Amino acid sequence: MNMNDVAARGLVLLGCGKMGSAMLAGWLRTGLPPTSVYVIDPHPSDWLKAQGVNIGGTLPENPAIAIVAVKPQMMAAALPDVQVLGNGDTLVISIAAGTAIATFEKMLGENTPIVRAMPNTPAAIGRGITALIGNAQVAPDDMDLAEALLLSIGQTVRLSDESQMDAVTAVSGSGPAYVFHLIETLAAAGQAQGLPADLAMELAKATVGGAGQLAEDAEEDPAQLRVNVTSPNGTTQAALEVLMDPESGFPALLQQAVAAAAARSKELANG
Ligand SMILES: NC(=O)c1ccc[n+]([C@@H]2O[C@H](COP(=O)([O-])OP(=O)(O)OC[C@H]3O[C@@H](n4cnc5c(N)ncnc54)[C@H](OP(=O)(O)O)[C@@H]3O)[C@@H](O)[C@H]2O)c1
Repeated sequence: MNMNDVAARGLVLLGCGKMGSAMLAGWLRTGLPPTSVYVIDPHPSDWLKAQGVNIGGTLPENPAIAIVAVKPQMMAAALPDVQVLGNGDTLVISIAAGTAIATFEKMLGENTPIVRAMPNTPAAIGRGITALIGNAQVAPDDMDLAEALLLSIGQTVRLSDESQMDAVTAVSGSGPAYVFHLIETLAAAGQAQGLPADLAMELAKATVGGAGQLAEDAEEDPAQLRVNVTSPNGTTQAALEVLMDPESGFPALLQQAVAAAAARSKELANG
């Protein structure tokens, strides 16, 4: 399957909130005809109503794609709407955190091709990263198509095993919140050194945003970039001695934080 099949056979979007809207905006921008999109959502937003897509009507009989973008707790209520598409050649893509492929196989039929994907919130500005894994029914070109659809909200990576999803959730899924907290605490620390709050916040946001972009763009790895800006006995070194302390610094703290998130992800997946 490819994007022409999606345009011809149709794409069903189950749940069009923050993530669903971000994806839809990307597909329409890259040329998917709005008339090929069928949205199911109990409260369509004004933005959605203005896009020219089909909302709440009859679904095509054999759409190329069904994307599940409802909250995990709404899954049981929402999935019956697309149950008729199971066990056929509609590729089902779920972006719901913590809902295992086996759960979809149980609800839609075990012959259903299913891709489970884990995006993150920078998807809202096209700067997300989404990890993907498919079941055995997903043909290689269907995996390429799932990846192409998710490229509308940022970068993609493929996993080799679904069990990696807990660690992915703990690193990139929940990760934006860790970085937001880094910004908050860096700004508060600047304030403690006598800066006005708004100035400290402006410095902290731009520093994290700029350093993140630099780390993505640079040929050197982040460790080398750090070394490059650390003069012997300078100011950066003084701070890094605190932050890089193996017991009280970032290394131990982030190990613990990511381990806690991964453990919680496992618990949630097991109900
Ligand atoms: N946001 C993230 O950073 C993030 C990251 C990774 C994964 N995800 C996953 O992405 C999924 C969507 O998240 P989101 O942030 O986009 O949530 P959201 O903004 O709440 O969007 C979910 C949408 O689904 C609608 N909905 C509820 N019940 C439905 C039903 N029975 N049938 C069809 N649509 C229904 C909701 O409508 P109402 O609002 O009217 O109830 C809402 O518009 C979640 O499963 C989440 O785990 C999100």
